[in-house]
Order: sequence, then structure tokens, then C-alpha cells
Amino acid sequence: MDRNYWDKKSKTYNTEIFDVNKNDKTRIIESCINEVASPKKTVADFGCAIGKWLPILSPKFKSVLAVDYSLPLLQEAEKKYKALTNVQYKNIDLMRNMKEAYAFDAVLCVNAILTDEYAKRAIFFNNLAKSIKKNGHLILVIPSLESALYTEFMIDDCNRKRDRTSSEKIKSTSAKTDNSRLHLGIVALDKVPHKHYLKEELIITLGSYGFKTEKVEKVEYTWATEIANAPKSLPAPYPWDWVVVAKKVK
Ligand SMILES: C[S@@+](CC[C@H](N)C(=O)[O-])C[C@H]1O[C@@H](n2cnc3c(N)ncnc32)[C@H](O)[C@@H]1O
Repeated sequence: MDRNYWDKKSKTYNTEIFDVNKNDKTRIIESCINEVASPKKTVADFGCAIGKWLPILSPKFKSVLAVDYSLPLLQEAEKKYKALTNVQYKNIDLMRNMKEAYAFDAVLCVNAILTDEYAKRAIFFNNLAKSIKKNGHLILVIPSLESALYTEFMIDDCNRKRDRTSSEKIKSTSAKTDNSRLHLGIVALDKVPHKHYLKEELIITLGSYGFKTEKVEKVEYTWATEIANAPKSLPAPYPWDWVVVAKKVK
């Protein structure tokens, strides 16, 4: 999943890419944003893609910097949100050491740190850390490894219990092709490796970049987002990503 992968999604983004904003059933991410927002503060959206969070961020903050390494996606965002006059756009690769020096009050980063390469994730986290001022906040949304494994359990459980004569086998929405790096949290979704995090791993990782985790919550989705032919009766808990609010303390 490199820049080229994302560049190619610019015209099909809405149909192909999972919309976290739209699927956040309880609006937990927006309430995390509200906790740190102020019309006196600056914010950046790291990995903004076509800008789905910009209409939420723009009225709550003094200024917004929308950052993405895919120029076609960034241009789509800029075209769509011309009316948001406090938003600026910047084409930066956050998996390279940033030349720019920023000191944002807050950064939102939603499902952008997905690479399976440890070194690239380390640079991304480092860029996040150095762009946020002391006592500023990071709101990070990231795939949950617990949820990925729990979903596999649910699929298996349904298939064991289903009435074999009448009901169709339950299937995941994405083919899990290569599980050889599952111990590292790497889950291949439709042949694309995605890093997933354990809650404790996330807290420790953020700590090593100078962040104190203030809260970790579930961004809950419906079963239909994970299971193609999900039976209506499937119970809670639902599949989730993690949302973390972390304070820059060092
Ligand atoms: C799954 S999309 C999420 C988009 C958006 N945050 C949202 O919630 O709708 C991931 C985005 O992160 C961007 N991204 C991934 N790696 C990046 C990097 N190294 N530098 C800047 N943007 C990056 C991609 O180009 C893509 O637009």
C-alpha cells in the first residue's frame, strides 16, 4: 500500500475505501475531537485523503492543515471543500523525515498508519510527535488486532452453528490471504498487508514517542462491514477500530 496505490483511488475512493466517519455508529471520534477542540487552536489532519473530516474540523478550530502524500486525493479534497476558508492543503510524505516544522495544538490521524513496514511506521509516529506542541493532543484511529481476531472467531462460530442444509457459509468482506505475520499484527486484507494494533501495544508505542494516552475507546461498526453476508441476529460486541486520545507530554 504505497503512494501509487492511493493515487489510483482518487476517482473510486468513495466506493472502494471504508468510510470511518460515516460508519462510526456512536460518533465517538467526533466526541474525542470535541474534547480537544477550540476556536483558538490549530489542527492538522494527517492522511486526510479526500477530506472527509474537514467539515467537522473546520468550524471547531482556528485553522486546519490537511496533509496527504497522494496529490490526486489532496486535490479532490481541495476541490470539494473550497468553502472551508480556514483549511490549507499540504502534500507531504509522512513516512519520510519531515523538513517542515509544525507545532499544532492537535492532530487527527484516521487509519493512515497501516503499512506493514516497522521502519516506515516509526517515521510516521516520529513526524506526528514532532508536529504536536507540548500538551497538545493526538487523536489516532487505528485498526484493532483484537477485533480482527474476534471477527474470525465470529465467522467460524456462525459456520459451525449454521444449518448446513439451508444456509449459506458466512464469509468475510475481505480475503485474509497471508497470516504468516499475524504475530506482528499484520493481517493481509485482500492481499494487502495492514498493520493492526493491540490496545496495550498502542499505549506503549505512543509512550515511546512522548505521548501519554488519556483514553482508548472502540469505534464500533456493524457486522456488515466485516462479514459479507452477516446474519441479522449477530450480537454485540461489534467489530471496531481503536480511537486514542493522547497528550504530548515530552
Ligand atoms: C484509509 S485512508 C484514510 C483517509 C481519511 N483519514 C479518512 O478517515 O477518511 C488513508 C490515507 O492515508 C494516506 N497516507 C498513507 N500513508 C501516508 C504517508 N506516508 N504520508 C501521507 N499520507 C499518507 C493515504 O494517501 C490515504 O489518503
